[in-house]
Amino acid sequence: MKRILSGMQPTSQLHLGNYLGALKNWVDFQGEPNTECLYCVVDLHAITADYEPANLANATREIAAAYIAAGIDPDKSSIFVQSHVPEHSQLMWLLATMAQMGKLERMTQFKDKAGKNAERAGLGLFAYPVLMAADILIYKATHVPVGEDQKQHLELARDLAATFNTRYGVDFFPQPEPVIAGPAPRVMSLRDGSSKMSKSADSDMTRINLTDSADLIATTIKKAKNDADPLPATLEELKGRPEALNLITLYAALSGREKQDVLSEFEGKQFGAFKPALADVAIAHLEPITSRMNELMQDPAQVDAVLARGAEKARSIASPILGDVHKIMGFYK
Ligand code: TRP
Repeated sequence: MKRILSGMQPTSQLHLGNYLGALKNWVDFQGEPNTECLYCVVDLHAITADYEPANLANATREIAAAYIAAGIDPDKSSIFVQSHVPEHSQLMWLLATMAQMGKLERMTQFKDKAGKNAERAGLGLFAYPVLMAADILIYKATHVPVGEDQKQHLELARDLAATFNTRYGVDFFPQPEPVIAGPAPRVMSLRDGSSKMSKSADSDMTRINLTDSADLIATTIKKAKNDADPLPATLEELKGRPEALNLITLYAALSGREKQDVLSEFEGKQFGAFKPALADVAIAHLEPITSRMNELMQDPAQVDAVLARGAEKARSIASPILGDVHKIMGFYK
């Protein structure tokens, strides 16, 4: 039995990188045999950075709407909000007693986010990876789809699972495996083929957001950076051409084709000819998702019902596991 868990923060708009690198794979896991999928919106993680309280609930609903619109089926997977399942925070405290400061200090995301002012960083930002470990272990999840940048956090979750098992002499938590999969695990910026597409980049022209209109998608792709050479015949020849590789990868991922197959079609063509074709596949693929998302955002009750059902299912798994942890740790009943 495989149990998959993953989550995204309700920090800002989802973009094509989140969709092709994560969401689209989450959708595909649903069909695998003997697999249970849990997908949460990690609002407790979002408050470790500056955030606007007035926007948090809506941002949370929007991520849930994106999950559903992208094809995560509430009848097959549990979709829920992290803070609706208090067992995450409860397990986090227990794991915090086993997490070593030295290891947390080495987390590159903490170092990046805390910057020069680590003395002033909040305890929540420091403990972020412990909460993430709790998100995973509270379900005894076996597989965790994440991006490259989260591998170190997953390593810590594995470490905490092993530490717990050793400390209490049990074989309780399984080792969660990272899953880095999909046709485009790393979608790059449309203005710079050597940096990741990111929600924090200043220019909107670096990315395609899941809420962008068809016109905006077409314009963004038209303005995407490219080199001056025509498209080559083979993947080999894309080496050293990061922008070209990124655009070909996007075309392949969005059309469900192999990169080589796409090159064979466009070999010798200039970007002036390729980009409109890429815009067409991007719009064809994203338009139904965007419109479903808008529809859901106009009918919050629908999303709320999915999230209530998801939280109930999640709690039915998490609560007995937390009970077992309490027993193992020797708490007074
Ligand atoms: N830290 C992850 C990110 O920013 C989000 C996350 C929180 C997560 N808890 C998780 C991902 C548990 C996978 C499993 O991308």
